Formats: sequence, structure tokens, C-alpha cells
Amino acid sequence: MHNADAGIGGNFPAIELPPPRFDDLAPLRDAFRLRRTEQTFSGRSLEPQTLSDLLWAACGAPQSPPEGLSAVADATASNAQEIDVFVAMEQGLYLYDPERARLAPVLSGDLRPLAAAPWLPRSGDKAPARLIYVVDCDRLETPHGKMAAPADPETLQAYSLVDCGIVAANVYLFAAAAGLNAWFHECDRPALAKRLPLRAGRRVLFAQTVGYPY
Ligand SMILES: Cc1cc2nc3c(=O)[nH]c(=O)nc-3n(C[C@H](O)[C@H](O)[C@H](O)COP(=O)(O)O)c2cc1C
Repeated sequence: MHNADAGIGGNFPAIELPPPRFDDLAPLRDAFRLRRTEQTFSGRSLEPQTLSDLLWAACGAPQSPPEGLSAVADATASNAQEIDVFVAMEQGLYLYDPERARLAPVLSGDLRPLAAAPWLPRSGDKAPARLIYVVDCDRLETPHGKMAAPADPETLQAYSLVDCGIVAANVYLFAAAAGLNAWFHECDRPALAKRLPLRAGRRVLFAQTVGYPY
């Protein structure tokens, strides 16, 4: 629960806000209303268009944005765009390439169970897609954006976790709007680090499971 303790405040009048209504923003209001973590999924696969929209919402940032969409879906520190999304599906593991709107094959076989930490319920192991968020620290350290990020390790780590959270929040909202269930969770980092062909400077952060409800 949020702690909006009045005792913290300064000695001047509060601003009383009207209840949130999202007038004229019905689709956004509905997405907020429906956004929640759900840990159960049907085995129904995601249609290619849904998958494309979902992944663009996560971290789409192609050079030429599709008609009607902004250039960058997710805010990142210094616009580093350092979060890569691997997608674990029944047949194999892919890497999302927003530039070419494509899932590049990485490993064959079902890695979905590794995308959830061993202590978690296994309810997402057969979900159609598990997104595995990986940070590329090199991209954070040499940002191409207009603001140069401070390079101390603690700040860089904080940036990568915040940026991952923003990606995840986009996915939660997209899922809510598209009638999908979503679940952000811990993953089996040691097992994934062994299996994923990660270049130096890349680290597995978290995972998010997405699929249709039963
Ligand atoms: C940083 C972070 C880590 C999380 N890790 C887990 C996890 O390991 N297992 C899990 O079941 N849920 C995990 N969750 C989901 C939260 O438990 C969930 O978002 C919270 O209970 C609020 O529910 P809501 O998303 O429906 O509002 C995590 C969420 C966040 C933001």
C-alpha cells in the first residue's frame, strides 16, 4: 500500500485532486483497469500480428518507425535502448530484432521452464511466449543519445533495472489492452546464463510470461 502520510508534508495547503477518470482516454483507462499479473495461460499461440505488436510495445525502436507509431516505444537512460528481448517459445528461443520486425532464431528446444525461477509456480511453462530481458551493458556505457550517462557501476545498474521495468510496464499495458495475461517474474539466471549465447557485457535480468487466458 502507498504511504501518503500527511505528517510528511510542508506547512501549506494540499492540492485536492479529482478522482482519476481518464475522460476521452477510454482505451488507456481500460488498459489500466485491466492491467494485472495473472499466472495462468492457455496453450493458444500468439498470432504473428499480436506478437509483433507486443514486442514493438516492449522495446520497438526501429530507424523508420511504422506508420502511426513513435520512433521509440520505451524510454531508456540516454536513449541507450540496451534491453534486448529474447523470446522463449515451444520450438525454440529467438531474439527480437525491432529493426527488421523479426524474431531471429537463437537456440532450438523449449527453454520456457528456465525463464521462471525454480521456486515459482510452473503455470507459465506452456505459455506461448516468455520474454527474457537481457541488458547489454556496452550500449549503456556508450550511449548514442543526447545525454551521456554517468559511468559509475551502481548508476548504470540502476538504469538497466529501471529501463527493464519500463519495458515490462509497456508489456503489461499492451497485454491488458489486447486481452492477454501477463506475469513479470524472476528467472533462472544461472541456467539461462549457461544456455544463452551471451556476449560479454550482457546479463539476464528478468522475464515476463504472456499468453491468452483460459
Ligand atoms: C520487480 C518485480 C519482480 C517480480 N517478481 C515476481 C516473481 O518472482 N514471482 C511472481 O510471482 N511475481 C513477481 N512479480 C509480480 C508481482 O508480484 C505483482 O506485480 C504484484 O503482486 C502486483 O500485482 P499486479 O501486477 O496484479 O498489480 C514481480 C513484479 C516486479 C515489479
